Amino acid sequence: MSSTSNGPETTDLRLVRRPRRNRKAEWARRLVRENALTTSDLIWPMFVIDGEKRREPVPSMPGVDRQSVDEIVRSAAEAAELGIPAIALFPYTDPALKDPDGSEALNPDNLVCRAARAIKKEVPEVGVIIDAALDPYTSHGHDGVMAGGRILNDETVARLVRQSVIQAEAGADVIAPSDMMDGRVGAIREGLDAAGFQDVQIMSYAAKYASAFYGPFRDAVGSGALLVGDKRTYQMDPANSDEALVEAGLDVEEGADMIMVKPGLPYLDVLYRVKTGLGMPTFAYQVSGEYAMIEGAARNGWLDGEKAMMESLLAFKRAGADGVLTYFAPRAARLLRGRA
Ligand code: PBG
Repeated sequence: MSSTSNGPETTDLRLVRRPRRNRKAEWARRLVRENALTTSDLIWPMFVIDGEKRREPVPSMPGVDRQSVDEIVRSAAEAAELGIPAIALFPYTDPALKDPDGSEALNPDNLVCRAARAIKKEVPEVGVIIDAALDPYTSHGHDGVMAGGRILNDETVARLVRQSVIQAEAGADVIAPSDMMDGRVGAIREGLDAAGFQDVQIMSYAAKYASAFYGPFRDAVGSGALLVGDKRTYQMDPANSDEALVEAGLDVEEGADMIMVKPGLPYLDVLYRVKTGLGMPTFAYQVSGEYAMIEGAARNGWLDGEKAMMESLLAFKRAGADGVLTYFAPRAARLLRGRA
């Protein structure tokens, strides 16, 4: 005896709750929007190379160049002009300067120190973040000192402390230990304080995973082809997330001012747990491989690059990030300016 009529009366579900009502128009969507990306959330990572007026594309990161110091200063000025609060500097070190101990990291006149000095002279208002880690400088591509095929923890930390002080002397506002050695944050804090750098912040790569998504970065800094083995004895196992809370908790106890989860999108659950668990200023690193995936697909016409970029960045905010290190920073900032 069922009716065959398909009139509006018979199909009306008589729902009390219709979540679509709040999405019916742009004004309504704006009104109920929970999260927003702003230019203040962006940190722009840049690759420095020797030379002058030199820009050299990184093949696995289309749209990203290695830049000589004079060009980096111009990019830092662009960051300031766009309202991007901070940049992160990574050196492409001349292979002739690399050795097993990464000695060039301790040269106060190395490339990254020269870049920091030049930026702080010309564009002092932009925050400068520099990694503490030996991988741009070692002939084996590892973040620490290697002996008998092992990465030595405490010997490496001693070097990272000296590297951090040298980078602070060059003008780094923030030291970002990216090496995942045990105890490095506490040792670096002590070393910075002893050298009179109480105000230099530490943004620790607190939960940094042994990830395949760093491949293009290693091309960019020239460590990829050199890398002996992998980094699984110091970077975290992608299977773990309780361990991320332990790692991040230790860094906070040791004096980290800000903590980071890396990579980004594949680890949003970790980001969420770390942010809610510790309540610290927490950052996500949208790493080189994530950039390459979005940009590569966009350049092939397989997805709308601009939309995918903004959606991915907003996802970090939704998961609790206070900010994002992203190679998209200048493009996102330009887009945000256009929308304001
Ligand atoms: C160096 C370092 C890496 C990244 C940032 N700092 C690579 C690595 O640990 O092998 C990766 C960043 C990226 O992929 O964009 N310790």
